[in-house]
Order: sequence, then C-alpha cells, then structure tokens
Amino acid sequence: MPTDAFAAAKINLTLHVTGQRADGYHLLDSLVVFAETGDTIRAEAADALSLTITGPQAAALPVSDDNLVLRAARLVGQGRGAAITLEKRLPIASGIGGGSADAAATIHALCRLWDLPLPSQADVLKLGADVPVCLDSRALRMTGVGEVLLPLAHPLPAAWLVLANPGVSQPTPAVFKALERRDHAPMPQQLPRMADAASLAAFLATQRNDLEAPAMRLAPEIAETREALAALPGCLLARMSGSGATCFGLFTEEAAAAGAAALLRARRPGWWVEPARMTG
Ligand code: C5P
Repeated sequence: MPTDAFAAAKINLTLHVTGQRADGYHLLDSLVVFAETGDTIRAEAADALSLTITGPQAAALPVSDDNLVLRAARLVGQGRGAAITLEKRLPIASGIGGGSADAAATIHALCRLWDLPLPSQADVLKLGADVPVCLDSRALRMTGVGEVLLPLAHPLPAAWLVLANPGVSQPTPAVFKALERRDHAPMPQQLPRMADAASLAAFLATQRNDLEAPAMRLAPEIAETREALAALPGCLLARMSGSGATCFGLFTEEAAAAGAAALLRARRPGWWVEPARMTG
C-alpha cells in the first residue's frame, strides 16, 4: 500500500531578523502559517531508493542525489528502499518552503510506510532550518534559527491567501547576505487575540518581513509583485514570504481571493498565481 503526504506551502506572515549566531545562521522571530496548496509525496515499498518528479513545476527541478526528498529518505530509512514520487506544484526557491515541505512530507510518508517513529528534531533540523516547522504544518511562532517552535496562545482567524510569484528564483543565502542590519526588534512577546482577517491584517501591518528590502534590491520584480497584490480588490495586506520571491495577499473571503487571483492571472499571464485557504 503506498502512503501519501501533503507538502503544504509555508507562509511567513512576519519574519523579523533579530540576530546572528557565530556559525552565520540568523536568529528569527516569524509567524508561520500554511496554505492549502502544495506538493504531494507518494511512497511505495521498493528494494532501492528512487525519486520521480512529476507535476507542473517538475521541469525546474531535475532529480539529483542531494534533493531534500532523498536526503530526508536517507535520514529516516538508513539504507531502506522506497519508490518516491514527488508531484511538484510549488515554484522552486520561492520563499514558501517547497523543498522543506517536501522533506517533511517525505518523513511523514516514510515513517508510516516503514512504521517508524519520527526522527529527532536535531536530525530534522540538519535538513534545513524550515523543515521542523513544516513537519508540524500548523500555525506557529518560529524562533531560534527555526528550531524553537512556540504554539500560539490564541488561534488565528479564518483567512484566504493569494500567492503570487513573478518567476524569479531567489537563493536564500544571497538575501540574508544582503541584509543591512541583523538586530531588528522581535515581535511583541504576546501576540494579540485576532478575531477576523481584518484584525490579523491590522496586526501584521505593524510587523515586518526584514528580508523584503534586501530581496527587493536583488530582484525588483518582487516589489512589483507585492504592489500588484495590494492593488487587488479585497486585499487587506500584501507582503513577501520567507526570502522571496513569492508574495501573499490576505483576504477575508474565498470568493474575493478567487476573483482577485483570476484578475491577477489575466493581468500577469507569466506569473504563478494561486488562491488558497490559510490553515491555522
Ligand atoms: O537551512 P536552510 O538550508 O533552509 O537555509 C538556507 C540558507 O539560508 C543557509 O545556508 C543560510 O545562509 C540562510 N539561513 C540563515 N538563517 C536561518 C535560516 C537560513 O542565515 N535561520
């Protein structure tokens, strides 16, 4: 019996860079949510470990031995075989954690296939700073370099997102390197209770993604993407996720998000545009 796991897009509603460790990794304070759109992983019993990539973004991701899916499979399996299929729908290197989510989904699928416990958080972190939060796949406050995951005191309200990527791949290390300051203030210690998407947007407007400015210097299309989202009817707030280039727009209603996404696709036929429910 194959096992399937969903690799949801990870969205940083905020991303504050609060410091830097001696090893170069940055200390973050980030409100992370997930979107009901993403890749899928299917794992089937096999003698050898293999990876097949299908789906609309497959051409952008040639299979290589250091693919995060294979690295995650080796971590879990320690030499066991499995035939893994990745259906790649999220754009590559786009700030919404596609590779990290694929690694996390691989861990879930293979632990079920082989009836194994989940690996330790320290081992998961070795795959990438975003893999622990993707393994949890629910709204969390992410601190440390990504490994300190704090549950939210109050659940986030229902909301819809429109994700947009202008077709720019943005390597994360270059964006961190281009930061002018690494000592930005964290979010408030207590996040407010937010009753609806409008109050979530009002809170987010007082917070930041500190990687936006350096990312936009490296790729000016990102500013254009955020502005195009912000100009859509019903958009409460628009911001870049992660190190970009994907930006999100926040909406109250499904119909408004769907209508806005259709409008943006018509205006920017070359962009990747996807409406999705925000999962809290
Ligand atoms: O851990 P991951 O492979 O996702 O990180 C990619 C790169 O992003 C790292 O090599 C590092 O340059 C940068 N990074 C960072 N601080 C973090 C996470 C990532 O400097 N907390």
